[in-house]
Amino acid sequence: MQATRFARRGTRAFAQFAFALTTVTGLGSVALAQGEVNIYSYRQPQLIDPLLKAFTEKTGIKTNIVYAADGLNERLAAEGQNSPADLLFTVDAGRLSEAKDAGLTQPVDDALLKNAIPAQFRDPDNHWFGITMRSRIVYASKDRVKQDTITYEELADPKWKGKICIRSGQHVYNTSLIATIIAHKGEAFAEQWLKGVKANLAQKPAGGDREQARDIHSGKCDIALGNTYYMALMATNEKNPEQKEWGNAIKPLFPNANDRGSHINISGMALAKYAPHKANALKLMEFLASDDAQKIYATANNEYPVNPKVEPSAIVRSWGPLKADPLPLENIAKYRKRASELVDKVNFDAGPST
Ligand SMILES: [Fe+2]
Repeated sequence: MQATRFARRGTRAFAQFAFALTTVTGLGSVALAQGEVNIYSYRQPQLIDPLLKAFTEKTGIKTNIVYAADGLNERLAAEGQNSPADLLFTVDAGRLSEAKDAGLTQPVDDALLKNAIPAQFRDPDNHWFGITMRSRIVYASKDRVKQDTITYEELADPKWKGKICIRSGQHVYNTSLIATIIAHKGEAFAEQWLKGVKANLAQKPAGGDREQARDIHSGKCDIALGNTYYMALMATNEKNPEQKEWGNAIKPLFPNANDRGSHINISGMALAKYAPHKANALKLMEFLASDDAQKIYATANNEYPVNPKVEPSAIVRSWGPLKADPLPLENIAKYRKRASELVDKVNFDAGPST
């Protein structure tokens, strides 16, 4: 059986990956009769499980996921025509473009997808499609930061000396943001800007986005860069209630709200070049762009739906309006490597003292 074979291959060939099979609830042989779809995912299974369950309930199509934090593009390339993967799920437009450029994906000409997903959030050649959107914003101390507007450019202003916290400059969230600075302002500007931000750092870049909020809470810094959905993850974190305090210490500032808008990125999907279950994969892609699935995603993950007909969750709406930078996302892919080189060149991750 195909499902078993995929699972076995998964265990043998992907021993280093966490492997998860979504359960088929109450469908039994009906589900199997409808077939299945195989997903390689850089997104954690718990983020997409509710959606895949809803898809299986609706269509009877079973979903199998191989999850990994790294290396799925390389795996797809190595498997070539023998790859069992139908779909690739990932965060960051840059990663989606890399898959396309490496010849790992195929175009999907689908009216339903084009209607549901605005052009800004999909590949011009239809190789990848955004599912959710997030913005990289400024977390500002409620107590110590009086201003209610900010720009990315301003983060290099010496008035913030010793006050900025940030995760590694090499993290994909930061290289993507820097890529947009290069796209808008040019490389020379971006380099100077990075040097300015580095000089303003309170400490060596480390941790994830939430740790920067933690350090604002404890007074180590006044502002940080972070993705929007982490604010919801902190505010609603029953497992680690101290994170509620971190979240409570900050207010969101949407950078460049009065000019080009705030940097956004997507999570998205692409159809694998040799997808063995192409028809089922297309059904899943259409489902994920649908109003129903977009609503589930918006509520479960507190990301912004890419489908403009679907409202963000109540908690996301409470942060105020998002004006998204309209820069086409393929620019992120175009300049991300250069951004990463600039991070090294200015020795960003060494922190403020060097
Ligand atoms: Fe994240």
